[in-house]
Amino acid sequence: MAGTTALDSYQHLLETSRRVNWRLEDLVGEGRQLDFTRPFLPEIFAQTEPLGFLDEAEKLKLNQIRARGYLALFELVESFVVPFICDQADGGGDVDPFRAQALRHFADEEEKHRRLFGAVLRDFDARFGTDCGLIGPAEDIRRMILGHGPLAVTIAILGLEWMSQGHYLGSIKDNQDLDPQFKSLLKHHWIEEVQHARLDGLVLKSLAEHSSAEDIATATREYFEIGAFLDGGFKQQAQLDLESLERATGRTLAEDERRQFLEVQHQALRWTFLGSAMQNPNFLAALDDISEETAARVEQAAMSFILN
Ligand SMILES: [Fe+2]
Ligand SMILES: [Fe+2]
Repeated sequence: MAGTTALDSYQHLLETSRRVNWRLEDLVGEGRQLDFTRPFLPEIFAQTEPLGFLDEAEKLKLNQIRARGYLALFELVESFVVPFICDQADGGGDVDPFRAQALRHFADEEEKHRRLFGAVLRDFDARFGTDCGLIGPAEDIRRMILGHGPLAVTIAILGLEWMSQGHYLGSIKDNQDLDPQFKSLLKHHWIEEVQHARLDGLVLKSLAEHSSAEDIATATREYFEIGAFLDGGFKQQAQLDLESLERATGRTLAEDERRQFLEVQHQALRWTFLGSAMQNPNFLAALDDISEETAARVEQAAMSFILN
């Protein structure tokens, strides 16, 4: 099963995490700045090409706005992953002697990722020239997501973690057009996320073992609630990205261009953060391990987020 292998043990994953761990100061600072003459985000996520009314310079601006949102939304996601994983580390630690340590290390790395993304966002904002909006307040989003049961939150986090790996390996690693600094950030993020996805898979497995079929059905419903809530956020984000682009280019789009922009960009955000997670084979395999029906429903739902 792709979701769990013989190498998935808290001890092994903790040892691997410690071996591949990097320092924040090696990735940001002097001589490691974003190159604003290059795109940052792969076109599969940015979806600037369908917007034929934008010229090449405007498409590049939009790509960078979407890349900023990509990092900012990851930072936001990780802000609820940290307290959630800390809670998990504090519970059930007697089952496996390495569980609590491994999960605390996981949370520490996510906290470091938040600092990394924060530093890059500050560099971006200082040099992009105009402001870019982000949905929020982050606290309300965090509270809404963490208001669901631990099984549903674990499923949501696991989807996002396998998704980020799918993004790096499938669309970023071999893409020669992207800014090398942005790629380096996502590469280093990926190096540590590999262990996070597998650790979260272990958390899911143990939670599911203590859950009834009804609990799993409830968690599945809650997972879709979280997805629908995020989808509403992505609709707002597309509107904010439109405003950011108009500010950055000094151009006001015509009514039909705005409509097209919102349609394409909302779907692009849905694919980036929902669809590409819900059709990720590793995520689906982990879900299939706890409930075939849940896996089938998630895979089916992913279809509605596919790009036209
Ligand atoms: Fe992370
Ligand atoms: Fe993560």
